[in-house]
Amino acid sequence: MEHIIISGNKPLKGRVDISGAKNAAVAIIPATLCAGGVHTIENLPQIEDVRNYITVLESMGASCEFLDDHTMRVDARNVSSTVNMPENLKGMRASYYLIGSLLGRFKKAVVPMPGGCNFGSRPIDQHIKGFEALGAEVIQEHGSIFVTAERLVGTKIYLDVASVGATINIMMAAVYAEGETILENCAKEPHIVDCANFLNMCGANIKGAGTGVMRITGVTPTDMKDRDYTIIPDQIEAGTYMIAAAVTGGEVTVRRVIPKHMEALSAKLQEMGCDVFAGDDWIKVRGKEELKPTTVTTLYYPGFPTDLQPQMTALLTQGNGTSYVTETVFENRFQYIDQLARLGAKVKIEGRMAVIEGQARLTGADVTATDLRAGACLVVAALAAEGNTQISNVHYIDRGYENLEEKLTALGANIRRISDGEPPLVALEA
Ligand code: EPZ
Repeated sequence: MEHIIISGNKPLKGRVDISGAKNAAVAIIPATLCAGGVHTIENLPQIEDVRNYITVLESMGASCEFLDDHTMRVDARNVSSTVNMPENLKGMRASYYLIGSLLGRFKKAVVPMPGGCNFGSRPIDQHIKGFEALGAEVIQEHGSIFVTAERLVGTKIYLDVASVGATINIMMAAVYAEGETILENCAKEPHIVDCANFLNMCGANIKGAGTGVMRITGVTPTDMKDRDYTIIPDQIEAGTYMIAAAVTGGEVTVRRVIPKHMEALSAKLQEMGCDVFAGDDWIKVRGKEELKPTTVTTLYYPGFPTDLQPQMTALLTQGNGTSYVTETVFENRFQYIDQLARLGAKVKIEGRMAVIEGQARLTGADVTATDLRAGACLVVAALAAEGNTQISNVHYIDRGYENLEEKLTALGANIRRISDGEPPLVALEA
């Protein structure tokens, strides 16, 4: 088991290059199976979720060759439609994309039920509703999902929930469906647009990605071509570093970002009194001694992203007044509050709303990450806390953050990773 030790209360200063988007990568990698052929994917983040997905693809017969640390060539010409997921990967949440991808290409798929995080149930009923609407039979038994279809025929599908996963999954299942599929009330996240762009570059016919209505006109596998594609930057990684700059009163420039993807957070940081400057592909955040309290409500894109909610809650403990965070996307995404309290935060949960007392004095302690973004929240709080914080369950953080220690060290943070059994920590602080 590995842990991260942070000696906090130091302003972060400097520039950090943002990696490719995790949630685009875990959609585009399975989308190569839908497209078939041989594709080169650039700007892949070196994170656990990507490494795991590659293991799964190779277990299905795809060959994945890294041309450099962030560029991979995938040969998806000969893959099976049955996923024999390695036992240790059965918890992978984004494995559900294999269903839509394989159903689209092969009209059948056998995929283990996807895992989840611990912030509420994460059903896939909307995914299944879309597959069935296209003409597939879906059976869930023995921990796997079996989908088959004689034909896939385009139709109109209305999503009850603007689900990111369901939007991408149904989009892939419809790539080769006969006629036109209209997907209404769909999600608009940047990674949905990125996955649609990749498929369109290969030869698919997907219109309206990034709006609430998508139209997919079926093509044939012979229409599809081998392509090179570059993944967009990770808006959540970028947001995490922007929040870290604000909470430490530092000045950080996140580079290789798309400022438009960050607008909800940039606006909130400005509301709190931070200076936020943006260029074509960079954003500079200058934290302030005095941070104003504010109110945050998570919404689907372009609203405030739920994946930045925990990190924002950590920041709001430093506001000079009470702040309120309402989580509307997931039923219970405040599980991390107990761990945040161990660092000194004072947060009360009222239904879907967190009431955050400001000016909390944060001091280092031993804490445990309970999921990916809960871990990011604890990193943000530890960077502001006086003294040393030890964060366990670092594997959660490794799922979504490439080179976390290196990037934070370059910004002036005192951070290091230790394994179980290493000698007790000599205080990081000089
Ligand atoms: C994606 O999860 C992301 N994961 C999540 O990021 C992100 O939090 C979420 O979208 C929202 O933006 C990946 O892209 C791999 P949803 P997903 O389907 O697709 C309900 C991270 O930290 N719902 O948009 O699972 C669901 O219960 C991760 O990077 C249904 O009811 O999210 C939830 O309340 C965490 N039925 C809401 O919709 C369904 O069939 C949003 O879920 C599907 C979803």
